[in-house]
Amino acid sequence: MSDTQEYELPTAAAAMPGLKVAILGAGKMGGILLQAFLKNNLLHPDQIVATVAHPERAHALSTQFGVQVGTDNLEAAHAADVILLGVKPLQVPALVEQIRPALTPQKVLLSFAASVKTSAIEDAAGMQLGVIRAMPNTPAMLAAAITALCAGRFVTEEQLGIAQRIFATVGRTVIVDEKHMDAVTGLSGSGPAFIYIIIEALAEAGVNVGLPRDVATLLAAQTTFGSARMVLETGYHPALLKDAVTTPAGCTVDGILELEEGGLRVTLIKAVKRATQRARELAAG
Ligand SMILES: NC(=O)c1ccc[n+]([C@@H]2O[C@H](COP(=O)([O-])OP(=O)(O)OC[C@H]3O[C@@H](n4cnc5c(N)ncnc54)[C@H](OP(=O)(O)O)[C@@H]3O)[C@@H](O)[C@H]2O)c1
Repeated sequence: MSDTQEYELPTAAAAMPGLKVAILGAGKMGGILLQAFLKNNLLHPDQIVATVAHPERAHALSTQFGVQVGTDNLEAAHAADVILLGVKPLQVPALVEQIRPALTPQKVLLSFAASVKTSAIEDAAGMQLGVIRAMPNTPAMLAAAITALCAGRFVTEEQLGIAQRIFATVGRTVIVDEKHMDAVTGLSGSGPAFIYIIIEALAEAGVNVGLPRDVATLLAAQTTFGSARMVLETGYHPALLKDAVTTPAGCTVDGILELEEGGLRVTLIKAVKRATQRARELAAG
């Protein structure tokens, strides 16, 4: 490794010492994970090897993080115990076939490509090895993601535990059956976009009733954040929390009537259903 000037070498032991991890396709999501591994001291830079398509990007990433980044997937896969697949969904089978000579039944393939089934990856690998599929979302950038994980046929509890620790660096994790992964894509994968539209609309509404735009956006975003925390941390049903805000003959109930008349609830249900359906279509190729 030539250049580590932008990255300070850690002094403490890594949380997962001895584990070698390859990130094949360190793009947006792979890059977020790479940074999270280092920031959380899950792995030391010398435990990580990554690849991208363009040599100049490899050089830039390597310089920025002090990690070995190249364009040779096979070499990277040879060096790793856990191999993260971060390329676009359509590229995944070819990538797995490319690295096949480096695969052994002890290695784990951890794919975060949308819609690609564990069975497709197992077939491309041509052997009985652990394949885990993950669906993170973009709040991973702030370690506020939710990542759903599902296991292929040959995954051990220990391997699933490693995958959970890997994705815990970017937020919360949940394990689901693979049959639910398209629904996860439709809800939490696409979900941030739906929520941004709601925040944008609330902020627009604030401007409409006379608030300065920056104040309106802050109120809308922090209200969304606080409400989500209430659901997560109290464990109360959202309807109960809504009822607590809704005083008889008050302002909120008038607003809720407008929401119901406008079909917000049904529209959101339809949006998630449509996104789930699309994820299913993508999986079918
Ligand atoms: N972004 C999200 O919010 C999100 C959420 C969940 C899941 N995902 C999944 O994550 C995967 C990547 O998405 P992304 O948004 O991170 O895309 P991206 O930024 O385009 O990243 C793809 C990366 O793959 C690299 N690459 C392309 N061909 C390669 C090859 N043959 N060998 C090695 N690396 C190669 C690209 O290299 P260059 O940089 O040199 O072009 C790029 O760094 C997708 O499968 C997507 O479904 C993304």
